[in-house]
Amino acid sequence: MTVNKPRILVARRIFPEVVERLRTHFEVQSNDEDVAWGAAELAERLADKDGALTTGSQRIDAQLLAACPRLKIVANMAVGYNNFDVDAMSEAGVVGTNTPDVLTETTADFGFALVLATARRMTEAEHYLRAGRWQHWSYDMFAGAEVHGSTLGILGMGRIGQAIARRGAHGFGMRVLYHNRSRLAPEVEAECRAAYVSKEDLLAQADHLVLVLPYTAESHHAIGAAELARMKPTATLVNIARGGIVDDAALARALKERRIAAAGLDVFEGEPSVHPGLLEVPNVVLTPHIASATVATRLAMASLAADNLIAFFKEGRALTPVPGTAATT
Ligand code: DGY
Repeated sequence: MTVNKPRILVARRIFPEVVERLRTHFEVQSNDEDVAWGAAELAERLADKDGALTTGSQRIDAQLLAACPRLKIVANMAVGYNNFDVDAMSEAGVVGTNTPDVLTETTADFGFALVLATARRMTEAEHYLRAGRWQHWSYDMFAGAEVHGSTLGILGMGRIGQAIARRGAHGFGMRVLYHNRSRLAPEVEAECRAAYVSKEDLLAQADHLVLVLPYTAESHHAIGAAELARMKPTATLVNIARGGIVDDAALARALKERRIAAAGLDVFEGEPSVHPGLLEVPNVVLTPHIASATVATRLAMASLAADNLIAFFKEGRALTPVPGTAATT
């Protein structure tokens, strides 16, 4: 008797060895050309699939689910899952999974790198040098803001926020303030050497503010013109969370008018498009959503997404389910 293997769609190009491992368990269709399928094409390709491995750029919502009656699990190769309509997935009985933990330290490294690059004006200085404009030394050339000993503000104090706090407090002697939906346990605060403050105090006191909160309806434009106006004119802002948390048009204006000193952005509203105002100002460090991009971490993320699919179909339970989606087979 032949047992049909579950059918899986790998929606973006990922490590070939991970796809090969999936092929030992499943019938796999994989997007090796890495075409960015639109919603209709994704739905069409998923219509006869039992599971999917996605990245944060494929939206899984009620409309897509209605067209994919066999679908039981979507394994996101990302810790963020704002591409999932969690309620619609729960209603359709579809499990969603993400990739927590495996990217925490790598992403925190990058967040801290952006704090340093932004405060110390590294890309602005490099562009100046590459343009052949460096003629002589001067005392105030690209003089930036101090990082060590300054006040680090963290908005969103999950695993990555805590890892950034530890880097700031223990590595750079910074005073660390944070704001979060819920306050951390005292022992976690002590270990991170971080103090809980209101969002208003965080905005007013941070020399370097890092955004590490999930993107939800509540966090949409959590940083807009009003919040930027509360920040110090010497402050920097770093966003490694999600586009949409910052009102990019308001930020571009604030940077142009020097209402804050500088920003470091890895994520953008409507990415891969970037607000033209951000491209025009010199006081912003821009990177294309690469905070988790080391070879080892991206492989760990792809492997965990694959492990979720394998565990789900072999053992009936995903390893790292997203809360609120269906939990088991
Ligand atoms: C994540 O894991 O959420 C990163 O932003 C990559 O998408």
